[in-house]
Amino acid sequence: MSADRPIAVVTHPILEPGPTILAEACEVRSLPDQAKHSAEALRKAAEGAQGMVTQLMDPVDEELLSTPGLKVVANVAVGFDNIDVVAATRHGVMVCNTPGILDDTTADFAFALLMAAGRRLGEADRFTRSGAFNGWAIDMLLGHDIAQSTLGLVGFGRIGRGVARRARGFGMRVLYSDEMPATPEAEREMGVTRADLDRLLSESDFVSIHVPLTATTRHLISTAQFALMKPTAVLINTSRGPVVDEAALAEALRTGKIFAAGLDVYEEEPKVNPALLKLENVILAPHIASASVRTRSQMSEMAARNLVTGVRGGRPPNILNPEVFNQPRG
Ligand code: GLV
Repeated sequence: MSADRPIAVVTHPILEPGPTILAEACEVRSLPDQAKHSAEALRKAAEGAQGMVTQLMDPVDEELLSTPGLKVVANVAVGFDNIDVVAATRHGVMVCNTPGILDDTTADFAFALLMAAGRRLGEADRFTRSGAFNGWAIDMLLGHDIAQSTLGLVGFGRIGRGVARRARGFGMRVLYSDEMPATPEAEREMGVTRADLDRLLSESDFVSIHVPLTATTRHLISTAQFALMKPTAVLINTSRGPVVDEAALAEALRTGKIFAAGLDVYEEEPKVNPALLKLENVILAPHIASASVRTRSQMSEMAARNLVTGVRGGRPPNILNPEVFNQPRG
């Protein structure tokens, strides 16, 4: 292996063709395969590297980003709240994500959770397995209709729009809230109406969250918001856990303030709030909304290409802070 090949650290395994792309261009250093690495372990691993392929559970902080020679951090996720992008820009490090390719897969999964929570599929499965199914009954496991109901989308980016398109097939009325209104043509084409968050929460039968985690979206949905929702409402979260106040959600589910929830993300992953684990009316998935064979492979490929382009001095296709090209390295 030639000594001048750039060094790429891979914090967790990725799928083919990612490893092949990286190995063709770089000397690859893979960290031990474990669920989570400490910030300190990541900083140590970054020493001497020009690129890092990271994942959403890796804390990429300013100290790591100030590692001499580090050029690019390629996150294998569309979300990038695990990376201090402002510090990266200050230190001239490119940060990349994997947008676009996971939209349909994630929208599919949000819809799967919506249907499963509304029609009590988790409970139904447990009920049948437990041997409790002793015959058809008129009032057994009654849920709420998806068809012709109202869906509220909190955040109307690519994934939110994907959910809106699916909802049309179910004859749902769709409201959305977003700082950025969609164009009137897009609203017409998708049959959606913009509403402020309070109106959306009070009118929706299903509320699905599609905002990134930022300082303003942390605990966007908490006690006051649950108080606005219908007792028959279902909350779906496939964005980031801390957007929902989990303790308030558990209380709203326990006391019947809302009917059910479907969650793929948690405030302190991989921990799940014990209060949620005790409840029947919540479907709990282990952060798998983008987990299809094709999408996870495409995400791995995109991250590897971003890294290779960046370490070779090019402009990666999915760079989040292109301004690094206009400033001297800090
Ligand atoms: C997954 O949560 C992602 O951000 O891609």
